[in-house]
Amino acid sequence: MKKIIIANWKMKLTLNESLELIKKFKEKFKNFQKKEVVVCPSSIILDEASKLLKKTNLQVGAQNVFWEEKGSFTGEISPEMLVEVGCKYVIIGHSERRKYLLENYSMIHKKIKAVLNVDNLIPIICIGEEAEDKKTDKRDFVLVDQLQQALGGINIMENQQIIIAYEPVWAIGSGISIEPSEAEYSHKIIKLALNDMFGMKMINNNFRIIYGGSINSKNVKDFNNLENLDGFLVGGASLDVNEFYKIAKEIF
Ligand code: 13P
Repeated sequence: MKKIIIANWKMKLTLNESLELIKKFKEKFKNFQKKEVVVCPSSIILDEASKLLKKTNLQVGAQNVFWEEKGSFTGEISPEMLVEVGCKYVIIGHSERRKYLLENYSMIHKKIKAVLNVDNLIPIICIGEEAEDKKTDKRDFVLVDQLQQALGGINIMENQQIIIAYEPVWAIGSGISIEPSEAEYSHKIIKLALNDMFGMKMINNNFRIIYGGSINSKNVKDFNNLENLDGFLVGGASLDVNEFYKIAKEIF
């Protein structure tokens, strides 16, 4: 499958800083033909980001979405609205939302369903074990359980793309990324679980499994040749255009 690299800027920049960085990305990536590079800025700037990046190879993604089409849901943004502002991707169920907003996999499930209900919006579904799960050897169970809760019973059409972002919670923003062999192991577990739910043909055609958690231009090299890794979701290192560019260059 075609590799993908996604920048998650979280809530780390002001509006002006985001605009400046979008312009820098535009300039730096202007010769990056036909590669999938995605930028996920704050929702408040999605519209402007899409306009600025219109005729470039960079795509825009959102960091969150709501599961209803319309209605009395103060503060929320629907999948259709994201499409309207030019988003092609949306991150769902990031561990920071699970932690601070108490988002759970029943909500995540509804969000995925709603996103797959509109055309041309690709969900980036985050899963990953906590440090405690790792310590107590529950990683496999946690990953399978999260996938089943998120995707169980959901119908995926032949033309739909889904990205699973494996982000061990303990590796996010910690400066300590997972051992590449451990990432490969987790990605295999994810594939096996998806195989049970959707079958191998669909995994090969419709799913990509990417890794996130303290990736930088130095450690990315060690992940590059892993068999079951289709790309990266990058936080901190995506706030520096030169660093992010180096990571992107390593993987394509
Ligand atoms: P860091 O790359 O800063 O560890 O963040 C990873 C992440 O949470 C991406 O969604």
